[in-house]
Amino acid sequence: MTPSLVDLAPEYVRGFQAYTPSRPDPILARQYGVTHLHRLNNNENALGPTPASRAVIAEFAPPRAAIYPSGDSYLLRQALGRAFGKDPDRFLVGNGSCEVIASVIKAFCGPGDNIVTADKTFAVYEWVADFSGFQARLAPLRDWGFDPEGMLAAADGRTKIFFVCNPNNPTGTWWDEGRMERFLAAVGGRALVVVDEAYREFVDTPGFPDGMDLLERHPNVVVFRTFSKMYGLAALRVGYLCGAPEVVDLIRRTHVVYSVNTLGQEAARAAVEDDGGHMKATREMVAAAREIVRRACVDLGLEHIGGEGNFLMLRTKLPDTLLYRKLMRRGVMVRTMTGFRFPNWIRVTLGLAPVMEEFTAALAEVLRGA
Ligand SMILES: Cc1ncc(COP(=O)(O)O)c(C=O)c1O
Repeated sequence: MTPSLVDLAPEYVRGFQAYTPSRPDPILARQYGVTHLHRLNNNENALGPTPASRAVIAEFAPPRAAIYPSGDSYLLRQALGRAFGKDPDRFLVGNGSCEVIASVIKAFCGPGDNIVTADKTFAVYEWVADFSGFQARLAPLRDWGFDPEGMLAAADGRTKIFFVCNPNNPTGTWWDEGRMERFLAAVGGRALVVVDEAYREFVDTPGFPDGMDLLERHPNVVVFRTFSKMYGLAALRVGYLCGAPEVVDLIRRTHVVYSVNTLGQEAARAAVEDDGGHMKATREMVAAAREIVRRACVDLGLEHIGGEGNFLMLRTKLPDTLLYRKLMRRGVMVRTMTGFRFPNWIRVTLGLAPVMEEFTAALAEVLRGA
């Protein structure tokens, strides 16, 4: 008897439940009977890309689409090297930082190894470990934030990587310099510590650690950053890591070359070289939006949490999936949090003030009607 093709796959793949991305906006808009959807679900930047990136995108000559990109994002790495004062070979660019998550795990984990992270954070660390056959050990959040003691207690001699999301998506909580340094001292170089700084560019709070400095003192630290959030290039899929030369050299071996397209590389390079006031304008937009949503939460008596990053999480009195559908019918798309293990919470991206006013008005209408 011919065995089932399904049986060819390892058990950890067969047992893995694939993530279902949401449908394209025009299909959703039709489904919910609206003409426009405000995207407050993916922490995108409502101001879009920087002026310099926009120019690169507008001027991209179609015949160049036939030519392969630089296989190792050469010029982008040069620009990152100049921006951070580091050797360009210490940067590895991926198809979004999601790709570099997979590359780090592939490089450092073997059969029987594990990774340690939090139970309520960006889920891709856990997913990549799960579908690659490595155990993901999840330390519960404490006071909404990553718990350093819990993470250390979850680790053993087979722990290869700790993933710390700073600030954390979705809670916005963060480790200050002291807490980070104490954790790194406790790990003491026996495992890698990935500090995911996807939202670092939104932060200007004193005492917030800068991963790019940490990795000079701690060669086991690997920092992740992305062009999807602050730089408004999510559609072009560009993220990167930075680490010690010998660590990056290992990760590069497991990383697919040519995975980052030319337009993404060039738009990202333009953003690094010329911010054009974009970061300041975005931070101001986010601060104003945070106030609007916070005020609405207070008025509506809703528990909410959000420190840093361009998002805020709030607890609803309705099931989050029901609230999602009701907001969709009013043209607002938020992120349900059940999948993040926060049932009946939603996460909302902080964007343009008129859109936040529209969101809070829709929320108030739905909750008052409930
Ligand atoms: C904490 C965190 N890390 C990484 C990513 C992935 O970003 P990218 O678009 O670069 O793959 C995200 C995206 O939401 C994120 O929230």
